[in-house]
Amino acid sequence: MERIKRATFGGKISAVLVAAGSAVGLGNIWRFPYLAGENGGGAFLLIYLLCILLMGIPLMIAEFSIGAATRQNAVGAYRSLSKRWGVIGYIGILTSVLIMGFYLVVAGWTAEYTIHSFTSDLVQQSDINYHKAAFEAFITNPWKPILYTVLFALATHAIIVLGVKRGIERASKVMMPLLFLFLIVLAIHSMLMPGGMEGVRFFLEPDFSKVTPSSVLAALGQAFFSLSIGLGTMITYASYFAPKTRVQQTALEVSLLDSVVAVLAGLMVFPAVFSAGIEPQSGPSLVFITLPSIFSSMPLSQLWSSLFFLLLVMAALTSTISMHEAITAYVEEEWHVSRRAASWLGTTATTTIGIFASLSLGALSHWTLGGLNIFDSLDFLTANILLPLGGLLTCLFVGWVFDRKLFARQLYPEGRIGASYPIVRFLIRYCAPVVITAIFLDNLGVI
Ligand code: PFF
Repeated sequence: MERIKRATFGGKISAVLVAAGSAVGLGNIWRFPYLAGENGGGAFLLIYLLCILLMGIPLMIAEFSIGAATRQNAVGAYRSLSKRWGVIGYIGILTSVLIMGFYLVVAGWTAEYTIHSFTSDLVQQSDINYHKAAFEAFITNPWKPILYTVLFALATHAIIVLGVKRGIERASKVMMPLLFLFLIVLAIHSMLMPGGMEGVRFFLEPDFSKVTPSSVLAALGQAFFSLSIGLGTMITYASYFAPKTRVQQTALEVSLLDSVVAVLAGLMVFPAVFSAGIEPQSGPSLVFITLPSIFSSMPLSQLWSSLFFLLLVMAALTSTISMHEAITAYVEEEWHVSRRAASWLGTTATTTIGIFASLSLGALSHWTLGGLNIFDSLDFLTANILLPLGGLLTCLFVGWVFDRKLFARQLYPEGRIGASYPIVRFLIRYCAPVVITAIFLDNLGVI
């Protein structure tokens, strides 16, 4: 197997922080709360957590072991293990480019909202209709959101060019602890608002009458999206793990952190929404319309909205870095070009998609696919189809093709097989593939 000399992260804590940086993102704070709001609150949370436990964690272990065993980018990793299965790596890189395309747009909005929070223009008015009109005018503007999309892509690019240790590892080590601190402060503040407990109840009490096959698929897609699995990002990151990094423990810790952040995000968003007497099912605009109007009526409004949007910017940035790294490592190692050239290619490709995704909310809204504009198509196609498909193929590969001894060696580098082995293997070989397939078929109306 060809081994390329490459950087490694500092150690155990770095591995957890960097991988958690990828996992924790807009998915947790922007996407998860509105999906929960639309799909029955607590019932969605429960299905989501089951997906994390039964499929997410095993799949993350699977991806970490591929990365740790091969020490290559996603495409190189699969190809070096099996010629035929190399296609999973390509699907993963394609998925990264597509996700990053629309993700950069939302990341750009968070940057714009942070600036307007700091200058306090965002919190002048508490009327929700004012915020609705302002948000709609902003996202449909032909150039402003594009400017922020490009700026966000360049910020990501700058960190990638600095390299694995000086760029990615350092950025994650600074931003992740701050992110947790901000989130905890905001969640406590929100739950203490009058009427906030109503929101806690909505979020934690399951109501299964709202659960449909499509909400189960949405929970599965969200679990994969949130953990950054099914597309090779975690393979790329694991290829930089220090040699003795424990992959199972790291996967458990990262998934736990990610789920805690999703729950905290729910505990931050829903109490505020209920306290303001607003319906929770307001969709993707929940954090850009509802929350600014709520912040505006609070004492210290500027502080709360600045903290919140800065939190979103940091969460988004550590995630865009990881997608960009998966693309850059692939181009650099497979096309044999410099890291700088590879980064530029990644930045250009993803920004171009981002520009179209942004325009599709305004000028290009008539370009639709199955009734969805480009932005929504990218979201739907990646989270509900490509990620579960990538996850399914990865489980089949690791469960049935990947050399069993090589897999065991990644899980137990000290040589003694632990008690978790049969469970992890069962989940990867049987449970995850069967459940993912069943959810797909259920959505197609086949079962
Ligand atoms: N996990 C990120 C989030 O929840 O926002 C999104 C993401 C990052 C998805 C990296 C995929 C990925 F490769």
